[in-house]
Amino acid sequence: HEAGAPADGGLSFEPVPPNTEDALRVPDGYRSSVVVRWGDPVLPGAPAFDFDDQSAEAQGKQFGYNCDFVTMFPMGRDRALLWVNHEYTAESLMFRGYTNGTSATEEQIRIAMAAHGGSVVEIERAGATGRWQLVTKGARRYNRRITAHTPMRFSGPAAGGDLLRTAADPEGVRPVGMLNNCAGGTTPWGTVLTAEENIDQYFVNGRKVPEAQRSYIARYTIPSGVPADSRRFDRVDERFDLAKHPNEANRFGWIVEIDPFDPGSTPVKRTALGRFKHEAANTTLSRDGRLVVYMGDDSRHEYVYKYVSNDRYIQGFDRHNRTLLDEGTLYAARFTGPAGEWIRLVSGDRSYVEGMSAVEVLVHTRVAADRAGATKMDRPEDVERNPVTGGVYVALTNNTRRTPAEVDAANPRAANKHGHVLEIVERDGDAAATSFAWSLPLVCGDPKDPATYFAGYDKSKVSPISCPDNLAFDRDGNLWISTDGNALGANDGLFVMPVRGEERGHLRQFLSVPVGAETCGPMVTEDQLSVFVAVQHPGEVSGATPDRPASRWPDDRQPRPSVAVVWHEGGERIGS
Ligand code: FEO
Ligand code: CA
Ligand code: CA
Ligand code: CA
Repeated sequence: HEAGAPADGGLSFEPVPPNTEDALRVPDGYRSSVVVRWGDPVLPGAPAFDFDDQSAEAQGKQFGYNCDFVTMFPMGRDRALLWVNHEYTAESLMFRGYTNGTSATEEQIRIAMAAHGGSVVEIERAGATGRWQLVTKGARRYNRRITAHTPMRFSGPAAGGDLLRTAADPEGVRPVGMLNNCAGGTTPWGTVLTAEENIDQYFVNGRKVPEAQRSYIARYTIPSGVPADSRRFDRVDERFDLAKHPNEANRFGWIVEIDPFDPGSTPVKRTALGRFKHEAANTTLSRDGRLVVYMGDDSRHEYVYKYVSNDRYIQGFDRHNRTLLDEGTLYAARFTGPAGEWIRLVSGDRSYVEGMSAVEVLVHTRVAADRAGATKMDRPEDVERNPVTGGVYVALTNNTRRTPAEVDAANPRAANKHGHVLEIVERDGDAAATSFAWSLPLVCGDPKDPATYFAGYDKSKVSPISCPDNLAFDRDGNLWISTDGNALGANDGLFVMPVRGEERGHLRQFLSVPVGAETCGPMVTEDQLSVFVAVQHPGEVSGATPDRPASRWPDDRQPRPSVAVVWHEGGERIGS
């Protein structure tokens, strides 16, 4: 390492070079292992995974597919609950001979529905280092699977509204299941917030909803008919056919709150946080103690959002705290020059958008933000506040459809293949502020490309990075960035960069994931001894099938999406 590198950041590992290996590659001195993989038994009575003998009943008790957001709830030093999202299914890799949802067996469709959602699993430290493993014996009373069938409830101002009512739920308060849960966050009172993202892909026959609703169906890119690649959930559960149940799509696309310590609890879809293709929901407290939630809508030309509760968080008063996600104000971001503002959209029953009721703003939030003049961004993924510096970071993953005429200060490249990271500094450092300053510390790509920028750091010393997606922070406030869809040709990976001091912009690659995989989840544990990553969709390469797999990670057999943990073999802190 360079002599005299300042201690700021505490990062001294030798970066992993860009590569295309079918492996989880970590720096010298580090080790990795798989904590839990698709199909691992997690509930009582679950059978061992058998790729060639799957059933929906088994999958409902096994770890789901395509792990995404990962977070941990410690139960002492050596035991914890791990929450993991299961974003979506890749049927062509899960089942031999699969072509599409129309020709799939009904059992395959039911397996896919059971492989969605999320999991709570008990894990334990394995030895004295940062290695963790799945608890496979004992009661494991917190272990839980959430699927497309789990009973849930709505809360907040849109609950019970006309737009959420269906034949099966005439009161509009009892949605069933959650889908496409991408990233997420946690609350100060120890629950999970999990974000329903690309919910359009589960529905058919959008053109058959009542005329007045059709433009909203289109705004959320819900199919008008039956696409050839549809999963056809409607074949086993008719609520996914909008010709029969036109409001069902409105019941997805929410932030869902789940209490991992109460396996019998009903997950809550929090309508005050709006409905869009939610990527994540990261909380912090404002200067006066109100709850603030930062969120992104991950599609091209969509928006960055913020929610601020009316009341303050009171430590230990859970019943009060859970109302904070029901009563507050939803904002969308407008970036102008070096400044920006949070535009009010709705607060309780009060709409600030002309021509839309409060319920309409919450259910058709994209349309509300269009009308309010929010800034169209290059696919806002994770939005998260740095707990050390207070800066708020937005991962803008890419936007190949931005035209030269659409370039603006916050989205400075047309046909943006590699994405960028935006930093928001709220006025007076207060998360509840309605105005802010912002900058672009990272404009991604090959450092040799003059259009890239690494906060002014010497570009000969940084790792190439493309398509930032999930963000996380360690105890020193270093920014960890995982990628999805590396457009430079190498595998995806996890990177880390100090955001202050002389080392600001010194980005290094910490790990790379196997062929076809995306790096999700990243979480540095409180004790700084472990990094968890979700290795999502290994082997998802065009044309790959179970008979021609593109990856054999992690078992040298069919690829299995898995959560892995990385630690320093000498027990040193992560980044050393
Ligand atoms: Fe599911 Fe926006 O990544
Ligand atoms: Ca993501
Ligand atoms: Ca994050
Ligand atoms: Ca992504």
